[in-house]
Amino acid sequence: MRHFLTLKDFTKEEILEIIDIGLEIKKDLKAGVFKKELEMQTLAMIFEKSSTRTRVSFETGMFQLGGHALFLSNRDIHLGRGEPVKDTARVISSMCDMVMIRTYEHSMIEEFASYSKVPVINGLTDTYHPVQLLADYMTMIEYGIAEDAIVAYIGDGNNMTNSWLMLAAKLGFELRIATPKGYEVDEAVLRDALDIAKESGAIIKVMNDPKEAVCSATVVTTDTWASMGQEEEKEQRIKDFDGFMVDGLTMCLARKDAKFLHCLPAYRGQEVSEELFEDNADIVFSEAENRLHAQKGLMVWLNQHKD
Ligand code: CP
Ligand code: NVA
Repeated sequence: MRHFLTLKDFTKEEILEIIDIGLEIKKDLKAGVFKKELEMQTLAMIFEKSSTRTRVSFETGMFQLGGHALFLSNRDIHLGRGEPVKDTARVISSMCDMVMIRTYEHSMIEEFASYSKVPVINGLTDTYHPVQLLADYMTMIEYGIAEDAIVAYIGDGNNMTNSWLMLAAKLGFELRIATPKGYEVDEAVLRDALDIAKESGAIIKVMNDPKEAVCSATVVTTDTWASMGQEEEKEQRIKDFDGFMVDGLTMCLARKDAKFLHCLPAYRGQEVSEELFEDNADIVFSEAENRLHAQKGLMVWLNQHKD
């Protein structure tokens, strides 16, 4: 049995296989074909943070695969009142077939997985957001920008940056990350990514100059400057991130046909300008829709790899 907690635990072939299954399922869906590959199965979804895309895509995806999803916010279950993670894991995994968790500390999801009898999916922690990267790479494949990609990430060194690091390291593409001083990526994750990159041939560079990062990039991406849980730092961060907004001028330095990606939610006038965002709405909302298809691929794959 496999859990999906970080891309670090998956090979390049496995990541591409999951995305391929998702693309097949997407093709079927568009043709009106529903294969009930998870019939009679239930997915428990534990949310300790807000969500639009993750909740809607997992719940819809599970329904379309013939199963059922349970939305469990920490306000409604005993986990939020102090019932231990390990007890919650043993109870839920005795009744459900898969669990998706969105939480703060990555160690919580690791502890849950170690007590779970069924696959656990990371729906975002403070450290990683791997399901988002499945959708991002699926979108890059569909838009013909996966081959020889040079990805520039401009912004906060956060769970999205860490996930891009793992994806680049595993798949072997070039990733440049520009953060303001003091907001650099997690050192341990960077070390791991650089280690993995030695094998895959990925080129990974971190810097503090967004212009240098974006120079001749084929994909430019960013994320909110204040992630969930950092709301109180927002005003300070807006000051510290001055000069890091991705806008038309930033894109002028990238390759002519470069594309913009954003995991959403987007804060216009902060990490991205209104104009640039709207100019790229087609790809950005395809990326959002692909959360549904990529995660269906993931759930089917995890089900196929149960003991
Ligand atoms: N990108 C993403 O995970 O969106 P939600 O927070 O809305 O789930
Ligand atoms: N870095 C953001 C991603 C949201 C999908 C956050 O954690 O809030």
